[in-house]
Amino acid sequence: FFDGHTDIWLFGYGSLIWKADFAYLERQPAYITGWARRFWQGSHDHRGTPDAPGRVATLIRAQGEVCHGMAYRITPDVLAPLDVREKNGYLREKVPLTFLAQRGNVQAAKATTEGLIYLATEDNPAFLGEASLDDIAHQIAHSHGPSGSNKAYLLNLAQALRELGTDDAHVFAIEEQLHRYQ
Ligand code: BEZ
Repeated sequence: FFDGHTDIWLFGYGSLIWKADFAYLERQPAYITGWARRFWQGSHDHRGTPDAPGRVATLIRAQGEVCHGMAYRITPDVLAPLDVREKNGYLREKVPLTFLAQRGNVQAAKATTEGLIYLATEDNPAFLGEASLDDIAHQIAHSHGPSGSNKAYLLNLAQALRELGTDDAHVFAIEEQLHRYQ
């Protein structure tokens, strides 16, 4: 998949946006096109339990959509432990990545860099799939796991996206629903 020598740009769209507990060389806000973030992946080990799984972000193919996140430049050896932790049925894909800093710079904005994403599809045993925003928010509001509450995951993500100055209708709509439960 990778030659073992060249640095890799890992694109984070979930918890990786605000929490990276691996060694990285640099990080840059970036986006990918043709993908959308959705709270369609079940979490029975981090933000929920086997009896009451939470919901975390995955990516779905969505033509014309843009997904903002944080890209981390890492050496290939960092991938091995990440794979063990994150793979868990997650697929890896190479995607074109655009750095946010390039916006406005016409010359550079045309250039994309190869990025790596981990994603869960319906083939993943923990995949939950689509549900109404209300059902998703309800599930998130009531799920807790070893990594903390599912609600904290969503609120951290929404806050991190705001700090990036980006919009994500799906995430912000769930956040709004969650605030109604308080
Ligand atoms: C993320 O935060 O972007 C992420 C982390 C692990 C697996 C998939 C995505």
